[in-house]
Amino acid sequence: MDDLLKSIKQKVRPLIGQGKVADYIPALANVDPNQFGIAIYSNDGALYHTGQANKNFSIQSISKVFSLTLAMKHYGETMWQRVGREPSGNPFNSLVQLEYEEGIPRNPFINAGALVVSDMNHSRFATPHYAMREFIRRLADNPKLRSDKSVSNSEYEFRSRNASMAYLMKAFGNFENDVEAVLHNYFDNCAMRMNCIDLAKAFSFLANKGYCRHTGEQVLTHRETTQVNGLLATSGLYDEAGNFAYRVGLPGKSGVGGGILAIVPNRFSICVWSPELNKAGNSLAGMAALEALSENIGWSVF
Ligand code: DON
Repeated sequence: MDDLLKSIKQKVRPLIGQGKVADYIPALANVDPNQFGIAIYSNDGALYHTGQANKNFSIQSISKVFSLTLAMKHYGETMWQRVGREPSGNPFNSLVQLEYEEGIPRNPFINAGALVVSDMNHSRFATPHYAMREFIRRLADNPKLRSDKSVSNSEYEFRSRNASMAYLMKAFGNFENDVEAVLHNYFDNCAMRMNCIDLAKAFSFLANKGYCRHTGEQVLTHRETTQVNGLLATSGLYDEAGNFAYRVGLPGKSGVGGGILAIVPNRFSICVWSPELNKAGNSLAGMAALEALSENIGWSVF
């Protein structure tokens, strides 16, 4: 496995320089683009990694999977009255469907959907970001994890699009809490800094029927785990979910920090990171690395 990871790293290196680091969040624009890391955590506890798998980055939309997990644990099936389970076919920050679909976002991974899920968690926890941070620290087995205030402040300053979605949903009666307070918590969650190893470990329960072996915790039921993986496969990469299914064939979640999480059900959780993005906002070298990995080992679920 170590040799394979090294050869994949060599193979995707030439792609670095062909993408673009996210610059719509100014604090992310300063990241050195010339970085790549990958970590694989197996259900029996073995860890494989190469490159900058120990280097922290902004998890951004990968945080939406933690938020969904927390909301599912509390709200169960009732949460689906407020958010859909269909791919949107639109960019992650699109607003167009929200008005004619009466404030119900298509799925929990586009920004509008993640904001509704954040609103649900806001109704449930007195200090929603700290509840989330505790949950993430436990799952990643890393008590030091924290959010980067300069990134979340910068996101808040340039919040117009996300704020528009949240206020539109509020107008439709699909938002319970103060929009600005929920936005702060949503940005704090997105600005969590983690590395590939932390993320592969934290999401190992999705590969292991809902069970996290290092905490001994049943995070979700087996059934709920298959449901989250189904949503990741259909919507985790937004309007590139079809391309990701074609090229990689695994449930996955990307973030504009350049991380991509991928799950090989019943076997492995994987996190790859390289900051430069393609046009859909997903890591360019990360996609290519996962494609090479899936092709080499025949891991596609399809
Ligand atoms: O709300 C936003 O736009 C960012 N905090 C997260 C976007 C993101 O990571 C999209 N994923 N590729």
